[in-house]
Amino acid sequence: MLNITVNASRKYDVVIGEGLMESAGRMVRGVSSARKVCVICDTTTRDLFSETVIGSLAGAGFDTHLLIFAPGEQTKSMSNLSRILEYLADRHFTRTDLLVALGGGVIGDLTGFAAACYLRGINFVQMPTTLLSAVDASVGGKTAVNLKAGKNLAGAFHQPAIVLFDTNAMESLPEEQFKEGLSEIIKCGVIGDKDLFEYVAYKEAPRINDFVEMTAERAIIVKRDLVEQDEYDVGPRKLLNFGHTMGHAVELCSGYEIPHGHAVAMGMLAACKASYRKGWSNEDCAIPVWQTLERYGIDPKCPFDADELASAALKDKKRSGTKISLVVPLQIGEGALMDIDVEELPEFFRLGLEG
Ligand code: GLY
Repeated sequence: MLNITVNASRKYDVVIGEGLMESAGRMVRGVSSARKVCVICDTTTRDLFSETVIGSLAGAGFDTHLLIFAPGEQTKSMSNLSRILEYLADRHFTRTDLLVALGGGVIGDLTGFAAACYLRGINFVQMPTTLLSAVDASVGGKTAVNLKAGKNLAGAFHQPAIVLFDTNAMESLPEEQFKEGLSEIIKCGVIGDKDLFEYVAYKEAPRINDFVEMTAERAIIVKRDLVEQDEYDVGPRKLLNFGHTMGHAVELCSGYEIPHGHAVAMGMLAACKASYRKGWSNEDCAIPVWQTLERYGIDPKCPFDADELASAALKDKKRSGTKISLVVPLQIGEGALMDIDVEELPEFFRLGLEG
């Protein structure tokens, strides 16, 4: 079992290991004196994991409740936020009671935001069941729901009380979803940990759980270090957006048919190429990044052109002013932020997509 401590506005542990669902009750009891716990999941994680987690929490003396949503991005809505808040109020949850997010990023973001809002803030636990949510969404305290105008436009920074990543959950994770997480792990290697990148690029682990433990730990440490420097995402935390400016545009252009991790892979490769061609990078990172994505069957060929992507990227409601911050690799293991004028974005994408 591995333990990573995050020292943000609240201090908490990210625990990685096999069988953490079975020991969830004891581990959650270690950080909470709650009487009631509401486990929030989707129908997939209900079928796979809820019995084990609820049983363990009940065994540790918690009065357990279960709230279930449909899987998918559309679940991250204001109406579902309201459903959770009304559910908690109807059952007289108090400020010392607790929510547990049992699922991927959608469930984690929705549950976290409900925890941030209910009674002006109660504790919650993240139990990520996808590799992507384990290495990204469940750590760092970003919580949100989507509005009609765009994704994640209503939310709060609200750090969890503990994150429990049971690597046994990877056994039931579909291969395509596993690749989504790998893409974010590769991202962390490129922006902040050369050894992690090289491990993913060249090494074999005897067991998938060993590979997941090792790579997730190092990716979370990269994220942890940035969150500790810049919890509210006004400076270095933006490095975590490597591949995301184009990645979000790819998602939008595809009507969200191309999933996040895959879109980010396209964005990372393009950012590497464009940055090298502009003379910002000290080495051509596109070659090792492309080879690593290939190694895991992640196809980084982008089906959209630079103009389509730039116009989608510039619709991003969270962009401010006439500048846009791009993340580029100086070399493998070291990312940097580059501010460009928004008019320069199509050219940057063009350089990233050419040959
Ligand atoms: N997913 C990027 C961040 O947490 O800042």
